[in-house]
Amino acid sequence: MTWNPRWKLAGSLGLATGMALALVALPALVFAGQEGDVAPNEQVTFTKDVMPILQRSCQRCHHPDSIAPMSLITYEEVRPYARAIKYRTGLRNSPGVAGIYAMPPWYIDRNIGIQKFKNDPSLSDEEIATLATWADSGARRGNPADMPPPIAFIDADEWELGSPDLIVSSRSVTMKGQDSDWWGPIGDAPTGLTEDRYVASIQMREVNDLDGQTGRATIGGLHIFHHLTMRQAGPDGMVYEDEAAQGWPTHEVGRNSDIIDPAAGKLLRAGSKFVFPSAHLHSTGTDTTGHVEIGLTFHPKGYQPKTTLVRVGGSTGDLDIKGMEADQRIEAFTTLRENTKLVSFEPHMHAAGVRMCLDAIWGSTVETLACAGYNHSWVRVYTYAEDAAPLLPKFTILRITGYFDNTPANKNVSDPRNWSGLGHRSMDNMLIHIGRGIQLSDEEFEQELAKRRESLTEGQMVPGCPLCGYSKMPVTTASNQTP
Ligand code: HEC
Repeated sequence: MTWNPRWKLAGSLGLATGMALALVALPALVFAGQEGDVAPNEQVTFTKDVMPILQRSCQRCHHPDSIAPMSLITYEEVRPYARAIKYRTGLRNSPGVAGIYAMPPWYIDRNIGIQKFKNDPSLSDEEIATLATWADSGARRGNPADMPPPIAFIDADEWELGSPDLIVSSRSVTMKGQDSDWWGPIGDAPTGLTEDRYVASIQMREVNDLDGQTGRATIGGLHIFHHLTMRQAGPDGMVYEDEAAQGWPTHEVGRNSDIIDPAAGKLLRAGSKFVFPSAHLHSTGTDTTGHVEIGLTFHPKGYQPKTTLVRVGGSTGDLDIKGMEADQRIEAFTTLRENTKLVSFEPHMHAAGVRMCLDAIWGSTVETLACAGYNHSWVRVYTYAEDAAPLLPKFTILRITGYFDNTPANKNVSDPRNWSGLGHRSMDNMLIHIGRGIQLSDEEFEQELAKRRESLTEGQMVPGCPLCGYSKMPVTTASNQTP
């Protein structure tokens, strides 16, 4: 007799009343009334279809003692949330309706703009449909033998990009539950490095004593750090000169990680320390103590960068957000002075912000590079995949469009009856694009274009590459044609 995985199921149903009964009665008991006309191997089940999705996109946050309110690892844990999972994943790029946010927190609009990003945890349309079908068809467990092996967690608060080579922590700070916003320096932290290394990725995360509980339903109830800036200084505490131009990413509420362009690894020096010139703290409604951990991975020894990253920004302070009005739209423009490969798109808004789009205007071409929902509880940086990063000729105009919802439908806003404008508090507003890019000489730009065109047919246009379709036009001529 061979082992039948259903026997295990029998045990969990309390039906292990003897082998004979299990063998004869179990298949009917387990599947009766659920199967419909669907053959068993076509049914959507937890073990076969749902678990692989949860492992890839959800469990890093949803496991015991993590930031999320519940673990999504066993069938017993997941089943009660079947409908909630269908709803949350079905929100897709929407930042959320009435305070219910899309899961996983990743808000790129799938209907417009470039779609390829590094480390993208979002679900495909098929995966979203699978979760919905599972919830609607009885949320079945399925065959335990289909269950993929569990994934190993590095520690309770999983690192998004895996285990860092070096972890540096800021000092701990405490915010009382009802404190007003606070800004200021919070000291420094030695890196402990004994030799120079080049940084390949940076993960920053807030570690606090909230345990997924919060006293507040508005912005960022799970975190006190609404921003933390950092600079690299020598052992004497003096910030290095090149830090002003290049800088490090700014940590923000619940922000995800930075994969630095492989050509532009960032130098971290022996004996250096991080100084934190500006923290912005916002209370959670509960007394909270926390610090920020900075996890760094390094390039192999001997690595040399070819270039450096620069800010590709754009912003306006002219914000006039009316009370009790949805769909308020504000634009900002900036002109690129150099040929630029845009490495990342990072919308920065505050509580009332719900969406940002980035368009490239070049000559008579207007292209949307990305649109993303915005949720000031989960700030996201979106890093373009290598073969999809926009290649923008000099004098391209970037248009940033921010959308604001200052009504009770946007739960991040504490009192939507108020007008609001530019300000540093999380309840004030901002409209900034904090992108990063690489500037290219005309020759380097031609090389990048040639590489990109290899996968295109002659004359083919792709979003984010206004010159890709013009294989015979030199960059210098092309850029001279723009005003
Ligand atoms: C970056 C961390 C993170 C990831 C990744 C993530 N979640 Fe969540 N999830 C949370 C947090 C924190 C909450 C609680 C705050 C909230 O409700 O928005 C939550 C809430 C939820 C809820 C609502 C629970 C309730 O009480 O109704 C559901 C359902 C959910 N997540 C499902 C998922 C699914 C399914 C995935 C993967 C497709 C996923 N989450 C990925 C962090 C995450």
